Amino acid sequence: MRIGVIGTGYVGLPTGACLAEIGHEVICCDKDRTKIETLRSGRLTLYEEGLEELFQRNLAAGRLRFTDSLADCVEGSRVVIIAVGTPPHPVTREADLKYVYSVASGLAAHIKDYTVVVIKSTVPVGTGDSVAELIADQIPSELFEVVGLPEFLREGFAVRDFFHPDRIVVGTDSPRAAGVIGELYRPLLDRGVTLLEVSRRSSEIIKYASNAFLALKIHYINEIADLCERTGAEVGEVAKGMGLDSRIGPKFLRPGPGYGGSCLPKDTAALAFVGQRNQVELSLIQAAIEGNQRRRDRLAGRLWSLVEHLKRPRLAILGLAFKDGTNDCRESPALDIIARLLEREGCHEIGLSLSAWDPQALVSARAILAEAVDYAASPEEALSGADLAAVLTEWPQFADLDLDRVKALMRRPVIFDARNLLDPERVRAAGFEYHRLGDGRVGR
Ligand code: UDX
Repeated sequence: MRIGVIGTGYVGLPTGACLAEIGHEVICCDKDRTKIETLRSGRLTLYEEGLEELFQRNLAAGRLRFTDSLADCVEGSRVVIIAVGTPPHPVTREADLKYVYSVASGLAAHIKDYTVVVIKSTVPVGTGDSVAELIADQIPSELFEVVGLPEFLREGFAVRDFFHPDRIVVGTDSPRAAGVIGELYRPLLDRGVTLLEVSRRSSEIIKYASNAFLALKIHYINEIADLCERTGAEVGEVAKGMGLDSRIGPKFLRPGPGYGGSCLPKDTAALAFVGQRNQVELSLIQAAIEGNQRRRDRLAGRLWSLVEHLKRPRLAILGLAFKDGTNDCRESPALDIIARLLEREGCHEIGLSLSAWDPQALVSARAILAEAVDYAASPEEALSGADLAAVLTEWPQFADLDLDRVKALMRRPVIFDARNLLDPERVRAAGFEYHRLGDGRVGR
């Protein structure tokens, strides 16, 4: 089947490459010409585990193509997938739908035969109806149908998640459109993947309700971590004990510096806005949003308390991406914590300096933090002469650091582990002062 994908970001690009891999003829479109040129020349524009191989293979086979022309993308495609951004409005935090609407009205003129227009961008309930109206203003309604197909891919695991999804949610009342989506995912459905058919409006809410629920889980375990700290318990043990209850499940119960990324913060805010607009109190979401901000402040405060008494302290930051497996720094707790730390009164007086390292995100972090920190070429360089090392992203390699070497490099052997990644016994046995989250046990 010929598929057009509009938008080549973290959703569109992996989706396009994966659809090509399962045999479709895919043409991805982006208005950013430089990006299209880069992709055409065989270079990826973002880092995503496992994507390079799929991208190269399908590009070479001619199943994956790129264009900056909406006409090339839409004409002749049975399915057109809208995968453009829905960034938060800077003030209201409402999802800004300008890109979705502009693409929808732009693509209509190029539809010549029955086409399923899929909304993969995360959009508030009712957007599918508006998109359908926009297109129907230009072409007869028999020529198209608009389907909600929410995206559940995680950054860093997008390729894996595409091939092994927990479910595919299809929002449409049309059996014909649902049939086309069934064909689109045929190889996955044949392997037993669940496809859930719901109304378009339900599909739109499913996406927000799912992401917000994940945010709630993280916020909840972070609060429980604080309680553990005060009461002599240990949050890892508590999360394990909770997670063994199959009604709760073990995932998304890792304490940390709060949730970040381009989705959870944006989607919780957008859902809160939809609640307000419809006069429905979504008090839990509101609590998670506020708690997530406080969390970053609190962790910046804890880091500060470990360096404020020192002269010209040097802080090594390990991890800048919002989570492991990605180079994405959007809404990264690490960057926010750094910014909050540098805003502390007294920070310049004591001469605090920061040296940061991340296996993938140095370039994207620099685009945001500029020269606020020194960017190290290796973890060793970041740790050299440091008075404190702070683990802010859950990259698994941080758990395997050669601690003797780290100790030899640092000026003072102190680690603050904001992801509870390291093994406390190993770290303390190596002679470090070790701080982690939610550990109130005596002698921690
Ligand atoms: C999320 C959803 O998981 C995915 O289904 C959706 O399609 C897009 O949004 P993503 O933004 O890639 O995916 O990140 P996710 O893996 O959900 O992590 C979000 C944040 O929560 C990260 O900052 C991560 O470090 C943090 N996190 C996650 C925790 O702090 N604790 C956890 O237990 C899990």
